[in-house]
Amino acid sequence: MERMRGSGNSVVVLLLLMFMGVSTARIMEQQGDYAEQYRRNLLANGLAMTPPMGWNSWNHFSCKIDEKMIRETADALVSTGLSKLGYTYVNIDDCWAEIARDVKGNLVPKNSTFPSGIKNLADYVHNKGLKLGIYSDAGYFTCSKTMPGSLGHEEQDAKTFASWGIDYLKYDNCNNDGTKPTVRYPVMTQALMKSGRPIFFSLCEWGDLHPALWGAKVGNSWRTTQDISDTWESMVSRADLNEFYAELARPGGWNDPDMLEVGNGGMTKDEYIVHFSIWAISKAPLLLGCDVRNMTKETMEIVANKEVIAINQDRLGVQAKKVRSEGDLEVWAGPLTGYRTAVLLVNRGAVRISMTANWDDIGIPSKSIVEARDVWEHKTLKTKFVGNLTATISSHASKMYILKPIS
Ligand SMILES: *[C@@H]1O[C@H](CO)[C@@H](O)[C@H](O)[C@H]1NC(C)=O
Ligand SMILES: *[C@@H]1O[C@H](CO)[C@@H](O)[C@H](O)[C@H]1NC(C)=O
Ligand SMILES: *[C@@H]1O[C@H](CO)[C@@H](O)[C@H](O)[C@H]1NC(C)=O
Repeated sequence: MERMRGSGNSVVVLLLLMFMGVSTARIMEQQGDYAEQYRRNLLANGLAMTPPMGWNSWNHFSCKIDEKMIRETADALVSTGLSKLGYTYVNIDDCWAEIARDVKGNLVPKNSTFPSGIKNLADYVHNKGLKLGIYSDAGYFTCSKTMPGSLGHEEQDAKTFASWGIDYLKYDNCNNDGTKPTVRYPVMTQALMKSGRPIFFSLCEWGDLHPALWGAKVGNSWRTTQDISDTWESMVSRADLNEFYAELARPGGWNDPDMLEVGNGGMTKDEYIVHFSIWAISKAPLLLGCDVRNMTKETMEIVANKEVIAINQDRLGVQAKKVRSEGDLEVWAGPLTGYRTAVLLVNRGAVRISMTANWDDIGIPSKSIVEARDVWEHKTLKTKFVGNLTATISSHASKMYILKPIS
């Protein structure tokens, strides 16, 4: 808090009031339309009206990154057609900078791996119609400890990022000073707002202090979980944790269960389809985490599914919930524009089994006659459904439908 006082800015005052526990209702009275004003005041970047889509280097490459592979990844996003489907952010994760700042205290791109500098890379990526993301940390060093964090340098680093043409900042939580994330993260929010460039702000706070409860005032997305790894268990446990906060996602700010592992080889095709389906229906960021320069046909078929992407990017922006779970059988559902409902049936068990989604559970009037579109088979089913829909589903597999009442 101390760091933010004295700027004489009404934004700071409003933020302080919020942290001091002044009720939102009172602020609403003072500010008029609360939802609008509040968001505009604190993170007025106008971004993330739908969840972000793109790629991030960490899941596949960790620290083994350089400007050549970032350029090649941008090329691949365009040549594969993925950029046209919405995958536009090219996000550099940890390990892009020298361990020491320059004499003026600026971050310096690592000479051995990014010799042309980040501005040059941003120009390259922008020329392809894509956006460039970068990474820092609300601590003294990033998680790799190979480069500085931005704690205490927020304004300077935000200015640097803006001057390079950065469009997205992932902001990690390692090696901090022990103060609360609710203190450290808003300092960067303010700094980004002052930088004069709209920069998507991705809070990577790992869910430590329930960032879903305060993230919408501070960032465009907030991690609800620890890092994902490329296994079924890791993936479904992150899906579960993220689902808990479903009601707090909305256009402008999204729950983030971490980046995609599709295409990295640790799960079966069916498991990756479950992964992509849950992320899509949960309005999670769709950030590819594989090597997009070298994707199999199977990986491409999953991540390029337009109908599934459309569920994720639906303008209504409501995160689906697990509306029923019976043992290993789960029904996820959420509303879409046009009075439609997205439904996902997941079988987490070991045997193939019949599963039913009841209208009662998914919020469709019980007498409604419904048309069902299978978004993985790309087929509208001939049968019209009343009251429920039943499907047989293999172990660690799923079915996803868009339901549309026709009377
Ligand atoms: C960067 O590396 C190149 C070659 O490795 C070297 O010639 C150059 O002096 C280095 N630049 C800086 C600023 O260290
Ligand atoms: C491309 O992917 C295949 C597996 O799909 C792998 O065997 C191969 O090593 C990869 N090539 C590169 C250059 O990473
Ligand atoms: C589905 O609904 C029909 C009525 O439309 C009912 O006869 C049937 O028992 C229901 N099936 C399940 C599995 O609930």
